[in-house]
Amino acid sequence: MELDIRPLHPLFCAEVLGVDLREPPSAELAAAIDAAMDRFAVVVVRAQQIDDDQQMAFATALGPLEDTPAVVDAHRHRLKHREMVDISNLETDGSILAADDRRRMFNLGNRLWHSDSSFKSTPAKYSMLHARVIPPEGGETEFADMRAAWDALPADMRSRIDQLVCDHSLIYSRALLGFDAFTPAEREQFAPVPQRLVRRHPGSGRRSIYLSSHIGTIHGWPRPEALSLIRDLTEHATQREFVYRHTWREHDLVIWDNRCTMHRARPFDDLRYKRDMRRLTLRDSAPTLAQAA
Ligand code: OGA
Ligand code: MN
Repeated sequence: MELDIRPLHPLFCAEVLGVDLREPPSAELAAAIDAAMDRFAVVVVRAQQIDDDQQMAFATALGPLEDTPAVVDAHRHRLKHREMVDISNLETDGSILAADDRRRMFNLGNRLWHSDSSFKSTPAKYSMLHARVIPPEGGETEFADMRAAWDALPADMRSRIDQLVCDHSLIYSRALLGFDAFTPAEREQFAPVPQRLVRRHPGSGRRSIYLSSHIGTIHGWPRPEALSLIRDLTEHATQREFVYRHTWREHDLVIWDNRCTMHRARPFDDLRYKRDMRRLTLRDSAPTLAQAA
């Protein structure tokens, strides 16, 4: 099946036209989306008037879902499906979260460059984020191409980082913003997990740098040395030429491949305007250390 694809950036990201996701996708459409993802890593599908059930049907047709959103105060879940991650600034009754709400503080971590669920031992494959309500300005999402970032590294840096293993945890990323209000149970739930720093994408064969603000150390390295290297690599990988900025329209569905991209939310006036986005996430096949290098 041939998709009508328009690139959105010189390196990655494309819009797919002529697709209607109100009906579950055929095996041919799912395969065509996978092929577009292997090439572009971020795929935008505009104007999809789908509800939670339709978003679930679409996502499950692409692969097995992550079933445990890693959030604080998970018992206050606003949405019908447990697997659906609530990327909003809303209370369970639909009102805007209070300025000092712990969930708001925690969600601010999405403004740091990251790869979804890199803090889980088997991390995320695709994320699929659907825009239900968007604010009048701000609230864009930026994506960075970690394959292009790898390709642009000098050879000596490539061989220096090639075999490194990092520990990732939500506790590390939140600490960067000064958030440390985790309960003992959450500390246990969010204990660090190891991930390769350099990965090979099974669909494209391309290598990429597996960066994320969840990284807290490199195995065998003193932490300050590890974190200064990670900071340098992150600056390199998020230079403007590697970044696409998505300005949302209502009913956009954006699919990104967490194995080879990072993303971050941009600010908006979240005490005044509602932003309601809902995400489903596919599980990767195995921990990165169990995958081919
Ligand atoms: C996410 C995420 C960024 C945004 O959904 O995983 O990081 O702009 N979202 O909301
Ligand atoms: Mn995210």
